[in-house]
Amino acid sequence: TGPIIKLNNGLEMPSLGFGTFANEGSKGETHKAVVAALSAGYRHLDCAWFYLNEDEVGSGMREYLAANPDVKRSDIFITTKVWNHLHEPADVEWSLKNSLEKLQTAYVDGFLVHWPIAAEKNEDRTVKIGADGKYIIKEDLTENPEPTWRAMESLYDAGLTKSIGVSNWTQEGLESLLKFAKVRPAVNQIEIHPFLPQTEFSKYLLSKAIVPVAYSPLGSQDQVPGTGEKVSTNKDLIAIAERKGATLAQVLIAWGLKRGYAVLPKSSNPGRIESNAKLIELTDEEFGAVNKVAEGRATRFVNMKDTFGYNVWPEEA
Ligand code: A2P
Repeated sequence: TGPIIKLNNGLEMPSLGFGTFANEGSKGETHKAVVAALSAGYRHLDCAWFYLNEDEVGSGMREYLAANPDVKRSDIFITTKVWNHLHEPADVEWSLKNSLEKLQTAYVDGFLVHWPIAAEKNEDRTVKIGADGKYIIKEDLTENPEPTWRAMESLYDAGLTKSIGVSNWTQEGLESLLKFAKVRPAVNQIEIHPFLPQTEFSKYLLSKAIVPVAYSPLGSQDQVPGTGEKVSTNKDLIAIAERKGATLAQVLIAWGLKRGYAVLPKSSNPGRIESNAKLIELTDEEFGAVNKVAEGRATRFVNMKDTFGYNVWPEEA
C-alpha cells in the first residue's frame, strides 16, 4: 500500500511499511501483528536483527502466505539491518544469513547498516558492554566503514538482498560513504515526524537519490529536550485531524507520504494497524498546517552517547 517508490537501482518499494520494533513485545506479539499488518494490506515489513523477533516476523508472514495463496513472498518488501557489533565483513554476512533463516526467506529486499557505529563483540557474537555499561566503540570500522560496506555490496551482488542502504546516518557519513561506494545506498532510514522534520536533510537525501525512510513517524520517541511536549498531544495537530475527520496517526502518515518518502508506523493493536493503513491524502492547506507545526523544530534530539558511548549526531546548538 501507499505509492510505490522506485529506488536508485530500479527496485520498487511500497511507501507504507510496517515497523516491527517491539519495545516490550511479549512472545507472540510480533507474529500476530505481522499477520494483522499483511491482512490490512501492508506489503512492506521493516525488521532488524537487533529487534530479536525476526523469527516471529517469519512465522507471521508464512502463516499469512499459507492462508492467502494469491499473495506471494515476492509481493512483500522485507528490510532487515545489521547491528553495531556485527560490522566486521564476516559478521555482516553471518548477520544477514541469520536474519534470512529466522525470516524464513531466501533473500530480503533491503539490508541496512543500522547505525554508523561499529562496536566490539564477545566471542559468542553478543554485544560487548564496557565497564561503564556502554558499547565499546571499534574506532577503525566506525571511522572507516569501507570494509563493512564492501561486505554489504558482496551480499547484494550475491542476490541475498535486492538493495542495500543505511539507517541513522548523517550527511557527513553519507558523503564519505559515497566516495567509495560501488553500490550506492538506496535508503537512509531515520526518525522523522513533525517534531523532528529533517526537512533539509530529506531534501539532501532525495537530491542524492537516497530515499528517506521515516521511523517513528507517529512521534513515539517524542521528547523535545526540556519541554516534554509530545506529537500525540499537540493541539494544532489534533485540530488538523479533527477537521479532517481522520486520526492523528493517519494525518502524520499522509504528511510523510506527501513529502515523498516512505513511512514505517508501528502498532501492536489490530484496530490501529488497520486504521493506519487506511491512507488519506492531505490538501495543500492541511499539508501546510502540519508543516507549520514542524517549522523551527529540532534537527535531532536523540543523543546516542548515553547508549552507545558515541555521539552519532553533532551536538545540537
Ligand atoms: P500501539 O502498539 O498500542 O498501537 P511510532 O511508529 O511513531 O514509533 O509509534 C508507535 C507507537 O504509536 C506505538 O506505541 C503504538 O501503540 C502507537 N500507535 C500506533 N498507531 C496509533 C494510532 N493510530 N493511534 C494512537 N497510537 C498509535
